[in-house]
Amino acid sequence: MKILVTGGAGFLGSRLIRALLDGKGPMPRVDKVVSADLAACPVKDARVESRVGSIADPLFVAAAVDADVDVIYHLAAVLSGQSEGEFDIGMQINVDATRALLEACRHLAKPPRLIFTSSLAVFGGPMPEVVPEDLVLMPQSSYGAEKAIGELLVGEYTRKGFVDGIVCRLPTISVRPGKPNSAASSFVSGIIREPLAGVPSECPVPVDTRLWISSPDLAVKNLVRAGALDGARLGLRRTLNLPGICVTAAEMLDSLERLGGKPARALVSLTDVPRIAAIVCSWPGAFDVSRPLALGFEADQSFDSIVKQYMEGLATA
Ligand SMILES: NC(=O)c1ccc[n+]([C@@H]2O[C@H](COP(=O)([O-])OP(=O)(O)OC[C@H]3O[C@@H](n4cnc5c(N)ncnc54)[C@H](O)[C@@H]3O)[C@@H](O)[C@H]2O)c1
Repeated sequence: MKILVTGGAGFLGSRLIRALLDGKGPMPRVDKVVSADLAACPVKDARVESRVGSIADPLFVAAAVDADVDVIYHLAAVLSGQSEGEFDIGMQINVDATRALLEACRHLAKPPRLIFTSSLAVFGGPMPEVVPEDLVLMPQSSYGAEKAIGELLVGEYTRKGFVDGIVCRLPTISVRPGKPNSAASSFVSGIIREPLAGVPSECPVPVDTRLWISSPDLAVKNLVRAGALDGARLGLRRTLNLPGICVTAAEMLDSLERLGGKPARALVSLTDVPRIAAIVCSWPGAFDVSRPLALGFEADQSFDSIVKQYMEGLATA
């Protein structure tokens, strides 16, 4: 099995590569993983080849797609905050480069499985408390619009038989280690990660804002499952809202206090940042995920279990 991961140096991409190589999931034995990213892949393993370049360059994209690739995970992207602030870059990386990647796949002898990581940001506007699979897309951000276009492209290239595509709409991932990033949802990790490290943090949205969340471990496990899934089980419905759990910002802060103590909770100040709230509050807080669950995808048990997973990771790092 030969796999290409665009964005293989990123937060999810590098974890995905490690999970693919450890061979515990449903994916058949992986012999080689190519990472295509602006940065070198941090995974040190003889089976990993790191190709450094920009997917904005169609020649780099074409060179990244080997003729015998079996599965492609297309993760490289400009995240929500940057897409909103830098319209042209968002369109170039999230739309034009996605099309270039699909074009590079188009003439392969065997259409590869292609997993496109989309986002719940494709939704917006009026919506029910629990979003069904067939809700109309109404993105309220450039990032959401770009992901929605990417979804349609993957669907069309799949219908034409150029790739065997599956769209995975990921929940917001928390708790993300490291530093804040350019995503509007960066605080969803920051309000746990920073106070646990004794650093002040801000919650920029109303505390009753509902968030649809997955731990990094489970998101990666679900992506591996998607790569190995029998496409016939999906029929024409190639887009999956991956399972998550619905929590409010207030419930997240309660978890922080339970597991990190009152001093940690006291480090989070409640602020109001309209630029962030306008994006994050337009996203759905809960989904009907009965179909993905029946297909074997999984959700975390609780937000406490997610915070514990993060704290255990810190202890063993
Ligand atoms: N983390 C989340 O909460 C979340 C939620 C929903 C969807 N997603 C999607 O999952 C994917 C991975 O997200 P992540 O959190 O790992 O992000 P990340 O920023 O950590 O990783 C993205 C990677 O893409 C690379 N990249 C960006 N522009 C590139 C370019 N021009 N050429 C080559 N590589 C480029 C970056 O260098 C980075 O390594 C993205 O498609 C993102 O939209 C993430």
